[in-house]
Amino acid sequence: MNVSVPKEVAAGERRVALVPEVVERLVQNGLQATIEPGAGEGAHHPDAAYEQAGASTGDGFSGDVVAKVAPPTSEEIGRLAKGSVLIGFLQPLTASDTVRALAERGVTSFAMEAIPRITRAQSMDALSSQATVSGYRAALIVAQELPRFFPMLTTAAGTIRPAKVLVLGAGVAGLQAIATARRLGAVVQAFDVRSAVKEQIESLGARFLELDMGLEDAEAAGGYARQLTDEEQQRQRELLAEEIGKMDAVISTAAVPGRRAPLLVTEQAVKNMSPGSVIIDLAAETGGNCELTEPGQTVVKEDVTIAGPLNLPATMPDHASSLYSRNIQSLLEVMVNEGELSLDFEDEVIAGACITRDGQIVHEGARNAAEVTA
Ligand code: NAI
Repeated sequence: MNVSVPKEVAAGERRVALVPEVVERLVQNGLQATIEPGAGEGAHHPDAAYEQAGASTGDGFSGDVVAKVAPPTSEEIGRLAKGSVLIGFLQPLTASDTVRALAERGVTSFAMEAIPRITRAQSMDALSSQATVSGYRAALIVAQELPRFFPMLTTAAGTIRPAKVLVLGAGVAGLQAIATARRLGAVVQAFDVRSAVKEQIESLGARFLELDMGLEDAEAAGGYARQLTDEEQQRQRELLAEEIGKMDAVISTAAVPGRRAPLLVTEQAVKNMSPGSVIIDLAAETGGNCELTEPGQTVVKEDVTIAGPLNLPATMPDHASSLYSRNIQSLLEVMVNEGELSLDFEDEVIAGACITRDGQIVHEGARNAAEVTA
């Protein structure tokens, strides 16, 4: 069985689906690997390192299994052979054109986003591995943009009070942002609609921000948040606006799978912040948590710096790729038996992650999304 790795073509995408270290392990396990020339360059892996690991260079779309990072373009889908297997981020709930094209092409596709978040599949959880990178990076960007210190300093020239940082959404990215901001010395508060995260927030040395929303708990299936009702959202925004006014920085990461990101930081909340404060909106890709976010830009509005970066993991391609590679390797271990592709659709992970197969969209959420947009 041959696994091939294309060079990513999306603008700014510097990650690669497999790093040489993982290629070496796959080759030891009896697989063949083909790497498109230059595929690892963005993550600082030259072709020679892949060749040393036992791969050959060639057509990145020629494998029985094609491992990618970003969703394929229509041109890339055209390069996939009928019956081949594609693994990557496919945005199955929102990129319906891509999903339809993969089905029409007869590709058996697996979305990293759709791998069930069960204990057995933790090592394949690329949403988590990449969110870890985003959360870390977000805290560093805030520290860099803020015209103030993060830590408390006692100096001969006086005492500096530590920065107050609020993290909205304490999923994987939010928790990593909390940990990183804490390490830099900020005083951190965090809020989430899932009450289960209170303990996790506190274990990182941050305070759980109590908002009197009259909300029991908003945890839904799979450990994800449910979408709040309009009234709940309105109440949340009003309560948050006041708290945000007391902060030096906000790191927002709130998301609900397959939906527009919840709007949490209103224009009024931004106005309430002191001049020079900073917001980083990790939800920029799905519409933003802040009303004034401009996706892909860093803007100054109401004298507050608002960053809406897209694809933060690609800005730290070395470790983002190495973690992602290990996620792919773990998934391949479930797909391969004695060096041959062997897809067991009774397996919860294989069945859950499969988006298209035999010309059909087989993933329920992706199928519903495709029907809505058809
Ligand atoms: P996500 O990226 O979907 O959302 C980020 C955070 O935003 C979540 O914590 C969510 O509760 C929060 N949020 C949504 N609406 C909000 C609102 N209106 N206000 C404030 N916060 C809001 O979440 P992520 O990081 O993908 O994690 C989702 C769940 O999956 C978590 O429960 C996590 O513990 C669980 N998980 C399970 C794993 C496993 O067992 N293998 C691995 C990783 C995560």
